[in-house]
Amino acid sequence: MMGRIGILTSGGNASASNAVIHAVCKAAYKKNIELVGFYNGYSGIIDNKFDVLKPESTLKHALDNGSFLKSARSMAFLTDEGFKTAVMNLHNKNIDSLIVIGGNGSLAGAEKLAEAGISIIGVPATIDNDVSFTDITLGTDTACNVILEAVYRIREGADSILMEDDYRVFIIEVMGRKCGYLTLASSIAADSSFALVPEIPYDINKIADSLVKKSKSGDPYSIIMLAEGSDSAENFGAKIKNLTGIKPRIVVLGHTQRGGQPTYYDLTLAARFGYHAVEFISDKQNNVITALQNNRIVPVDLKKVTSTHKDLDPELVKLRKSLD
Ligand code: F6P
Repeated sequence: MMGRIGILTSGGNASASNAVIHAVCKAAYKKNIELVGFYNGYSGIIDNKFDVLKPESTLKHALDNGSFLKSARSMAFLTDEGFKTAVMNLHNKNIDSLIVIGGNGSLAGAEKLAEAGISIIGVPATIDNDVSFTDITLGTDTACNVILEAVYRIREGADSILMEDDYRVFIIEVMGRKCGYLTLASSIAADSSFALVPEIPYDINKIADSLVKKSKSGDPYSIIMLAEGSDSAENFGAKIKNLTGIKPRIVVLGHTQRGGQPTYYDLTLAARFGYHAVEFISDKQNNVITALQNNRIVPVDLKKVTSTHKDLDPELVKLRKSLD
């Protein structure tokens, strides 16, 4: 064996993480590098829960949604003692490099390990698409497709009944933490009536006026897509009811957005991220993430990534505004 590397998945699960693990395993195997998979995120390093992975076994999970290593938000890793144990255990196992698949919180944890002398490759994976310097994060595409499917079903139902004088307002609450990307992107694809995201201020009175106008114009229904970082659908719905007298139908998509069969796009991105993660390790590119920029996978400095806030793409914002 030429060396030993570790891999783990951390934070909220992102679709196609299994495909990254498999791609890393295949690429490492070809280079004669042993791959150690830690279970339960950073906790697995602390608790010594791991397996040596082989392509035959990772293949079994490659097309499944999440991570067979289990993704976790490790509380123990946030303590001084847990962190020190993690560093010691990695050294004791002669793990030269660690691949961390996860979002901003997980990459911040990886950054701490990098400062303690562990070589890190981060793979940006979160449905929120809020990691800087990568055009998209793994899992976003599958989540957007789940959201679209939900909007499609709501439209299907709404289109199938025509109740006189029963103009309907649907409010669909979309995940994304403080980031509005999921809402913005899927609302453009679904052409919803409105999209409300934390990054763009809105005037609820104007929205209410517009809903009342629509209700009088013969429109059968309107769909408002609301990012959880803006407001809860329940709260926003109550305000709309007060302003318009219309009682909105609330749909909170919640954790359905974290499931679903990985899309072609996410599986391909996973294969590319995994392959390049191992290439970066061979090329001694330490403490970087695999980033997608202009359809190429490039290394971007981990510290730069964790210390920069990602803004919404202004072109998408402009496009969305033209749809309201
Ligand atoms: O970060 C991914 C995410 O799904 C967010 O969009 C959401 O706010 C959060 O995780 C939900 O976290 P939990 O799994 O703890 O409910």
